[in-house]
Amino acid sequence: MAVGIFDSGLGGLTVLDAVTKRLPDVPFVYFGDNAHAPYGVRDADDVYNLTTAAVDRMWDAGCDLIILACNTASAAALRRMQESWIPSDKRVLGVFVPLIEALTERSWGDNSPPREVEVKHVALFATPATVASRAFQRELAFRAIGVDVEAQACGGVVDAIEEGDLILAEALVRSHVDAMKRKMPDPQAAILGCTHYPLMHDTFQDALGADVKVYSQANLVAESLADYLGRHPNMIGGGTESLFLTTGDPSKVSDRATQFLRRKITFQKA
Ligand code: DGL
Repeated sequence: MAVGIFDSGLGGLTVLDAVTKRLPDVPFVYFGDNAHAPYGVRDADDVYNLTTAAVDRMWDAGCDLIILACNTASAAALRRMQESWIPSDKRVLGVFVPLIEALTERSWGDNSPPREVEVKHVALFATPATVASRAFQRELAFRAIGVDVEAQACGGVVDAIEEGDLILAEALVRSHVDAMKRKMPDPQAAILGCTHYPLMHDTFQDALGADVKVYSQANLVAESLADYLGRHPNMIGGGTESLFLTTGDPSKVSDRATQFLRRKITFQKA
């Protein structure tokens, strides 16, 4: 039995870490498409082709359920995959919905009509492709009314994290937060809409100020996955081994992953 966790690179490790803690008996197959990261500057066809190739590989590794722990792939490719590509005995889920449900004070699967919610001014930080897709705004509009969302495309941050240049990543985060504050001086909440960004959580929080509630996906996705598997235990696939797969250089990716998660992680070639 294994569940797949996919990201363009290292960001999905923030989700992997949370799901592993929440579901310690479930083996996870992690796939980082590090050779092709960042996805955030690619067009939708490109993201679709890369994502489907990775998901195919994870099915071969014994996963029937795959979490796209990548907002860019969730925004640019997931709907197209669900419409025509995923076989009926497999599932691929994205990472937006748990976050939007938390922001809009909803429990899992509450599909009641949109209503007023506590937060009125939301700052969204995401990759250029996710911002361009407007997927967050769409999902939010299904659930809430009267929420003002300002989006900031955070160019460069994913590349800097993938390269392990956290000084550059920090400088870029601060400048993106400055740019956001010029558009929306007093957000009540900030969404880290890219799974790489929790690795810079403290910098976002510091630059935004202590009054801003920062939402990131890892724990929310872990709760949703636990709930989903409770209701669909058959979706834990046939794989029995936890694996870390990468299209990049396994030794370089292992070093970065070990640095980020502060435990030994060993990737192998996908
Ligand atoms: N972690 C991916 C996301 O959540 C990063 C995207 C990228 O590769 O640019 O969007």
